[in-house]
Amino acid sequence: MKLKQDDIYKGSLILVNASYPVRPEYLPELVQVESNYARIQLEQKTAAVLNGVLQAICANGRILPVSGYRTMEEQKAIYADSLQENGTEFTEKYVALPGHSEHQTGLAIDLGLQKEVIDFIRPDFPYEGICESFRRRAVKYGFVERYEKGKEAVTGIAHEPWHFRYVGYPHSEIMKEQDLALEEYIGYMKQFSFDGSHLRHRRNNREMELFYIPVEEEVSLRMPAQAVYQVSGNNVDGCIIVIWC
Ligand code: DAL
Ligand code: ZN
Repeated sequence: MKLKQDDIYKGSLILVNASYPVRPEYLPELVQVESNYARIQLEQKTAAVLNGVLQAICANGRILPVSGYRTMEEQKAIYADSLQENGTEFTEKYVALPGHSEHQTGLAIDLGLQKEVIDFIRPDFPYEGICESFRRRAVKYGFVERYEKGKEAVTGIAHEPWHFRYVGYPHSEIMKEQDLALEEYIGYMKQFSFDGSHLRHRRNNREMELFYIPVEEEVSLRMPAQAVYQVSGNNVDGCIIVIWC
């Protein structure tokens, strides 16, 4: 397998925050998501997996997609409108700077509990009932609650119970079990290198091995024959690889 510089900037694990912008060349394949709230699009796989979770917990009509993929222009407009309506302090806490929003990747979705009035920036998504069922089940499918309480200093964003990010499985499960925000997970994975020890994750008699590889220019990796693996860039300096053993 060969990895090139471009591979750093794509995949389900790309870190997008105030320090790491979405690359201008990043263009996800988008699809329309069922929502009677707004016209919402997500990256193809993210949309398919989201539907899978919603169906598994029979949430259709009870949980509503509120905001998915946003263009740079849309993020700029949301930021500017919020500054005007809610002021600087609120906006900096709840709206990412244009170019730095996960919504621009198509990998993030804001969900709201179905109600008559839904707040577009801060939809209600409580830690109980159908919303909590979603939160629990979503981890098994590759989603994480991205801006958790207590992680504000790490993520740079206030607690957002409604914002879910598709990172892929088993990353979601490891992040949840180890209580790591995406910023922390990217750092944590650096101790597991291709040549050194890999992170082993065992679930339901399936063993997975994960490791990180820095990518400068081009790297070649000799993968085990017949290996089933998945690669994602971290949007910083390398890629994280999962091998299903
Ligand atoms: N509300 C999140 C942080 C965003 O604007 O991307
Ligand atoms: Zn969001």
